Amino acid sequence: MASGEGSRNSAAVRVALLGCGTVGTEVVRLITGQADDLTARVGAPVELAGVAVRRPHKHPWLTENFGDLVTTDAGELVTRDDVDVVVEVIGGIEPVRGWLLEALKSGKSVVTANKALLAEDGPTLAEAADASGADLYYEAAVAGAIPLLRPLRESLAGDRITRVAGIVNGTSNFILSAMSAGGTSYADALEEATRLGYAEADPSADVDGYDAAAKAAILATLAFHTRITASDVHREGMREVSSADVAAARRLGCTIKLLAICERVVDASGAESVSSRVYPAMVPDTHPLAGVDGAFNAVFVEAEAAGQLMFYGQGAGGAPTASAVLGDLVAVARNRVGGGRGPRESAYASLPVRPIGEVPTRYHVDLEVADREGVLAGIAGEFARHGVSIAAVRQTGGVNGAVDGDSGQARLTVVTHSAPEAALSATVSALLDLDHVLGVAGVLRVEGLGRAVSALGMGE
Ligand code: NDP
Ligand code: HSE
Repeated sequence: MASGEGSRNSAAVRVALLGCGTVGTEVVRLITGQADDLTARVGAPVELAGVAVRRPHKHPWLTENFGDLVTTDAGELVTRDDVDVVVEVIGGIEPVRGWLLEALKSGKSVVTANKALLAEDGPTLAEAADASGADLYYEAAVAGAIPLLRPLRESLAGDRITRVAGIVNGTSNFILSAMSAGGTSYADALEEATRLGYAEADPSADVDGYDAAAKAAILATLAFHTRITASDVHREGMREVSSADVAAARRLGCTIKLLAICERVVDASGAESVSSRVYPAMVPDTHPLAGVDGAFNAVFVEAEAAGQLMFYGQGAGGAPTASAVLGDLVAVARNRVGGGRGPRESAYASLPVRPIGEVPTRYHVDLEVADREGVLAGIAGEFARHGVSIAAVRQTGGVNGAVDGDSGQARLTVVTHSAPEAALSATVSALLDLDHVLGVAGVLRVEGLGRAVSALGMGE
């Protein structure tokens, strides 16, 4: 492999690109396809110094057009003296962490889309950047093309953010949208999301909520000036969401979305903490999040002075993500040309993490029950005994949705007022011990509501 070192333009900002898959290919296209514009915007040419991949034979376009830049030795590439900026779009924790630390320690700026690494060990990377005065930028790591991290870190730096919540995983949203529209199975929708380049290398990161949890950790860290890692985020994926759940949501005038929610919580004594969580939840069809389909993402940010802001756009895919990478690349290149450094995150607040058991949410509980006198009272009693207030109840006939008064069975749908997760879990366990409760068909959280309850005809 040729190193490309011989062609250095000493005035240029030289970029080592690690990875050239879905995102990296589009990064190469943007850097090389708009070279003159980038030069004008940065104040110096932006040149590729090298591109590291694992299997060059899988990259005919890259090797035909930029063969002299291609290397399989990413570790060597990041240490080269002619590299100013390392752009990492490989993914995963190791060996990438070592390469990025090496680059930052030697004063090279890093642009990365690697949310998994940032959510696991962002502080170590940030410390290495601080120690050498290098930039560490990662706009592409959360919500694809949507400019979200820079507004949190810079535009809203003078405000007090109270909540950041929304849809941050394109793959799971693509699958849920397909299931909701009908006619596409979970497996087919996941296959299509993978073909379109939305899914992670291991798509269980998408469907089991790990990717959204990593993004929630990054969002909460920036929003609340507190180091939050992926392990601080309560995580439930969407793999267990069934067609029956989707149908139940539709009956309530709701849509199921995988949500990431980060909140500043203030208790009665005035003590503050941070709650970060990811789970599938019912959202009323009238809520703007319900209309966010396919691989699109949308995030609401609430701040005391600004009020509510909504960020919406393509949350995954090669070109949209490369747009965010290029925005960061231009920013760090400008900083190098100007001799400065961009704003960094701060973690001065160090707020504690609130356990999920203490976080109040509303719930939709679908029960299969014996259809006889006293059953409803017994069930309501268990909710009351655990301090969970019922907002609405609806009974339908047969457990398969058919109205069949002779089956001896019925489906009971309960929507609760806000209750702590621990209280709801205890209620469900107790319900399962009742003779007349035949099964719990589904438990889903309900977010942003009012409407779903009135859809049951009961009001709040
Ligand atoms: P891909 O799997 O498409 O590409 C990964 C690239 O990394 C490939 O070119 C691969 O080379 C290369 N690579 C893997 N291991 C090594 C290694 N040891 N040395 C050198 N190169 C290596 O991933 P994506 O482009 O989809 O994602 C990249 C990153 O961007 C991930 O962190 C992901 O989470 C993030 N991201 C992705 C988005 C998307 O929509 N796809 C959106 C936002 C962020 P080879 O092909 O030769 O194996
Ligand atoms: N796999 C991720 C998603 C890519 O589907 O959202 C964008 O981060």
